[in-house]
Amino acid sequence: MATDEGDEGDKTGPVLIPFIPFICGQFLVTEQPCAASRYDENVTMKFLVTGGAGFIGSAFVRQILATRADAEVVNLDKLTYAGNLENLTSIAADSRYRFVHGDICDRELVRGLMRDERPDVVVHFAAESHVDRSIHSPGPVIDTNFVGTFSLLDAAREFSIPRFHHVSTDEVYGSIDAPHEADENFPLKTASPYSASKAGSDLLALSYFTTYKMAVTVSRASNNYGPFHFPEKLIPLMISNAMEDKPLPIYGDGMQIRDWLYVDDHCCGIQAVIDKGRAGEIYNIGGNCSLPNVEVVRRILKILGKPESLMKTVTDRPGHDRRYALTSAKLMGETGWAPRMTFDQGLAETVEWYKRNPEWVARVRSGEYRKFYETNYANR
Ligand SMILES: NC(=O)c1ccc[n+]([C@@H]2O[C@H](COP(=O)([O-])OP(=O)(O)OC[C@H]3O[C@@H](n4cnc5c(N)ncnc54)[C@H](O)[C@@H]3O)[C@@H](O)[C@H]2O)c1
Repeated sequence: MATDEGDEGDKTGPVLIPFIPFICGQFLVTEQPCAASRYDENVTMKFLVTGGAGFIGSAFVRQILATRADAEVVNLDKLTYAGNLENLTSIAADSRYRFVHGDICDRELVRGLMRDERPDVVVHFAAESHVDRSIHSPGPVIDTNFVGTFSLLDAAREFSIPRFHHVSTDEVYGSIDAPHEADENFPLKTASPYSASKAGSDLLALSYFTTYKMAVTVSRASNNYGPFHFPEKLIPLMISNAMEDKPLPIYGDGMQIRDWLYVDDHCCGIQAVIDKGRAGEIYNIGGNCSLPNVEVVRRILKILGKPESLMKTVTDRPGHDRRYALTSAKLMGETGWAPRMTFDQGLAETVEWYKRNPEWVARVRSGEYRKFYETNYANR
């Protein structure tokens, strides 16, 4: 099926949707840590963002330029299949923004950037982020996610960059039985090359705090959704397939449970960690909204007015984690952050964005994406 991060197989058949209780609560947020009013425009803060042309990185770049008068941004991105400068059209002409096309594994390039730009903070998003791709081809995942993180950490150490924030995922905790949820001390138990590479890079980043006293923080977020999401991941794949009346591939029984976090809430949480988090610490960032994948798909179909008969069961992903669950109590308690977007509102806005941007979808779905889709879904 389309999974938490992605794809499906082929056993064509209707999907049975059992009733299960799920949680999708909201918090009352009085003050948001990334509100524009908090920043002093007389003090400049330079961000070196990696992977800023991807889904979450581009949302972060747009958000900090919109909310922080003090921000300057250098965006280092290799522009893989997942990187798209169209995601940054709205800020491309901002004089506080600069794009650098390059690979985080290129140590000389990375050293040169740290030396010449002297960022106040590195915010590290760049990754090979797709679980199914990591299963088909683990090499690039280990290179970028682990070796690339090393390249950035070591250059930041050499040039005494004051702050390094590493963006990670709740997938490092592995599948968790209900009703338990992971806090930041929960054991790591990874199932895919993707999650293993992220867990390894988290530990490497934290070792730079312990060994070199670098001010490193790590955040682990749950499944993100929102505009500009590459349509191989669950929500954008289902929206774009449903809009075209194509089958919606559901991995296995579709009862894999994920916590859903609106992308802007994630970016705001990262800002909260950068502003108020303690060096050497890990912070979970969750959306407080746990749903089985099949329920997410059902809601998408409802918004679009499409029949549930479009759902088709396909062979499950090998090693597919059954349930992710995390608590964000530490981040909420220390910084005042909380997710603001309700899932139904965020999903409706996301669907609306895909309806308004068919050209964006068509462009990213051409070429390399098409090859991946055919490889992953053929013979499932
Ligand atoms: N998507 C989620 O639900 C989710 C949840 C939690 C954490 N995360 C983490 O957030 C980060 C961003 O995820 P995303 O969904 O935006 O990913 P994405 O795949 O949309 O974007 C990744 C970006 O990194 C760039 N990139 C890849 N390899 C690179 C390299 N070697 N050098 C420079 N740039 C490179 C790509 O061009 C792309 O712009 C990742 O670290 C991911 O592990 C994602």
